[in-house]
Amino acid sequence: MASSKVFLCLVYFFLCSLNFFTVLATEFNVGGDKGWVVPTVKDDQVYNQWAGKNRFKINDTLRFEYKKDSVLVVTKEEYEKCKSSHPIFFSNNGKSIYKLEQPGLYYFISGVSGHCERGLKMIIKVLEPAAPPQSANHTSTPTVAGANVANVINGMVFVAMLFVGIFM
Ligand SMILES: *[C@@H]1O[C@H](CO)[C@@H](O)[C@H](O)[C@H]1NC(C)=O
Ligand SMILES: *[C@@H]1O[C@H](CO)[C@@H](O)[C@H](O)[C@H]1NC(C)=O
Repeated sequence: MASSKVFLCLVYFFLCSLNFFTVLATEFNVGGDKGWVVPTVKDDQVYNQWAGKNRFKINDTLRFEYKKDSVLVVTKEEYEKCKSSHPIFFSNNGKSIYKLEQPGLYYFISGVSGHCERGLKMIIKVLEPAAPPQSANHTSTPTVAGANVANVINGMVFVAMLFVGIFM
């Protein structure tokens, strides 16, 4: 009896941690189903609007899919000029993966002449890592703010259940 409960708890923990880790990094398909393509109507906000609908964290990756094009990571100035002679990152293999390793702003442009001007450009903002729960000075029930907090509580509940399972 007790051992099957323990087993179930262990399975639960395993699934929980699995869930926790998959939440840590996400792969985004830039532009959704269309991919990385020149907007049909000139519009330099198409990709920024796509970016605005998403939240990017450290270690998330961006997947760019395209044909006969390229992806460059450049500085803000180069983004505005739509031109770069020494991009921070360059890829033109049709399927570029870019990992967002630090918080801050990333500037992407197409390296194909004229494409950036027609809107194939994007700014990505990567959020700072989630701040640890507010100082211990605040005596309050944990807020729902962080999924991490929820996970920890979940874990504690099940540790308690585990002991109940063993000793009852
Ligand atoms: C990002 O990934 C690196 C290497 O896999 C790891 O060392 C680092 O802790 C990760 N950072 C975050 C915030 O997940
Ligand atoms: C916590 O309390 C200590 C002492 O009361 C104070 O010095 C510190 O600034 C407080 N920290 C925060 C984050 O409020």
